[in-house]
Amino acid sequence: MTDKTYPPTDAMAATAHADKVTYDAMYAHSIADPDGFWRDEGQRLDWITPYTRVKNTSFAAGNIDIRWFEDGTLNVAANCIDRHLATRGDQTAIIWEPDDPNQGAEHITYRQLHADVSCFANVLKAMGVGRGDRVVIYLPMIPQAAYAMLACARIGAIHSVVFAGFSADALAARVNGSAAKVVITADEAPRGGKNTPLKINADKAFDKITTDTAMLVVRRTGGAVAMKDGRDHWLHEMEGQVGNDCPPEPMNAEDPLFILYTSGSTGQPKGVVHCTGGYLVYAAMTHQYTFDYHDGDVFWCTADVGWVTGHSYIVYGPLANGATTVMFEGVPTWPDAGRFWQVCAKHKVNQFYTAPTAIRALMGKGEGFVAGHDLSALKVLGTVGEPINPEAWHWYNDVVGLGRVPIVDTWWQTETGGHLLTPLPGATTTKPGSATLPFFGITPVVLEPETGREIATTEAEGVLCITDSWPGQMRTIWGDHDRFEQTYFTQYPGMFFSGDGCRRDADGYYWITGRVDDVINVSGHRMGTAEVESALVAHRAVNEAAVVGYPHDIKGQGIYAYVSLMAGEAPTEALRKELSEFVRGEIGPIAKPDLIQFAPGLPKTRSGKIMRRILRKIAENDFGALGDTSTLAEPEVVDDLIANRMNRV
Ligand code: WTA
Repeated sequence: MTDKTYPPTDAMAATAHADKVTYDAMYAHSIADPDGFWRDEGQRLDWITPYTRVKNTSFAAGNIDIRWFEDGTLNVAANCIDRHLATRGDQTAIIWEPDDPNQGAEHITYRQLHADVSCFANVLKAMGVGRGDRVVIYLPMIPQAAYAMLACARIGAIHSVVFAGFSADALAARVNGSAAKVVITADEAPRGGKNTPLKINADKAFDKITTDTAMLVVRRTGGAVAMKDGRDHWLHEMEGQVGNDCPPEPMNAEDPLFILYTSGSTGQPKGVVHCTGGYLVYAAMTHQYTFDYHDGDVFWCTADVGWVTGHSYIVYGPLANGATTVMFEGVPTWPDAGRFWQVCAKHKVNQFYTAPTAIRALMGKGEGFVAGHDLSALKVLGTVGEPINPEAWHWYNDVVGLGRVPIVDTWWQTETGGHLLTPLPGATTTKPGSATLPFFGITPVVLEPETGREIATTEAEGVLCITDSWPGQMRTIWGDHDRFEQTYFTQYPGMFFSGDGCRRDADGYYWITGRVDDVINVSGHRMGTAEVESALVAHRAVNEAAVVGYPHDIKGQGIYAYVSLMAGEAPTEALRKELSEFVRGEIGPIAKPDLIQFAPGLPKTRSGKIMRRILRKIAENDFGALGDTSTLAEPEVVDDLIANRMNRV
């Protein structure tokens, strides 16, 4: 590890939207006068009714109320499509790169996008969907996923995208949670050369869906599927029955745009709600500045639309900016570990945005897969999802960027809508592993975890909070505003608590150290340990389960489950497999435990609270310093856990 720093090149500083002087001045303005700053920035969108009020936000206990541009009206789809038609109707809006490299990419122009989204919106209307209704989108990475999102936005319906890797049970919970009128799915989802039977998963989900919900099915592979009369409809058949004319619905800036479920430290996933105006202003602005996006550039974010990264940086941010955005159906390692670079070269990608876990996986396959692809179009490389370790950073910098392309390490969350801490390519000197400095309008503070006191010195280590609102902030948890307040605003009253720990160095740079709650980060996917635990205890053989994260070379964190069995159940290898598969069925492949340790008992305090600190240490194979175990009800269970630990590296 070196402490070498990486200043922007002169060329980048000269052409970028912001150099250091501009960043400093704009940041200062955004903090001193948020109203004035965002009043101007809001103008990047087309408003039907112009706003007169800009910021009206409160983080006060009992009154968490966040509104931006609250008297303005606009339509998100019109901002992402219609307003570009006059100037860039024939420009490619979406480049769709299918799973199979031999299938050939599709280039969808803004004009085609307009027709397809309008038609899709009319199909939804014909199915009875209107303003404020919920639509669940359970699709592979195909253009129809973007059409579906934009079609909802066009008619004022609220979409809730469910990652296609989630199981039928997880899908059912999300459909029931929002009482969705329609679930949009596809026959099959091709990924890495294999087809997932998405429609069959959706059918299984419908066994548990208790709401009055119809299904709209996209034909992707043509694989045979059963259609249920009266409930299921083919998109292509419905499209034949409606026209392409669908005027965009004027929406209030504070009308919900989407719900996106994400994991927390307790209970079931919560439906994060983002609204129309502020979210789009923030997604568009961060997309432009963080990636230094310029007209004509080709932008590729490799995330899935099932995550917030796909919402903000495949669909909404880029399209609001009139960009060309790449949508990729496949995986980084199929047909081989050169796929990302082959696609970058093929489409002359200018900005490339991925997760550290993907970089580590590709790094392990060797440099040979990068060499031979012409990556000279690359101008900016980005990462998101977890802290990037210096080895991966240097590989990204040296092997992919050949030392000439700036890296932006962007820290943000589903809750934040867009980047909160990030370098800007023409402004910020980077340090490998640091998300560097706040974006415009963001006021981070580091607090002492126990007391909540702000650490005022430049160098600080503690928990990361944000003291004031920004336009992209989530507004509430769907159907549970109290939980919103409880989760984010009560631990440190008056502030938004991120759930992350961080360090601030002598230069004021932020270094995210990871979650301080019971959320783990597996391959850049957020997972509540409580969710995996409740899946495990739903199995007949399981008496109790406790789940923690442990360091994993590729995934960042792996899932380590301690399981105590019901009396009479034998701790066999077969059962271990069965439990793993069971969790996969309950939540999805990403939740499958990497290691399962059968334990006669879990370490508990005398009041019955599981001591996770001890379980984490043992999972990390660091049991020399377990700290104080004197409060344990049965100290001897710890000896058994250590003796039979599963991670010995
Ligand atoms: C983590 C993803 C370090 C963090 C956009 C956060 C990061 C959680 C970074 C949110 C980063 C995201 N460096 N950690 N650059 N980006 N994280 O909601 O722990 O899926 O709280 O949003 O990912 O995950 P989420």
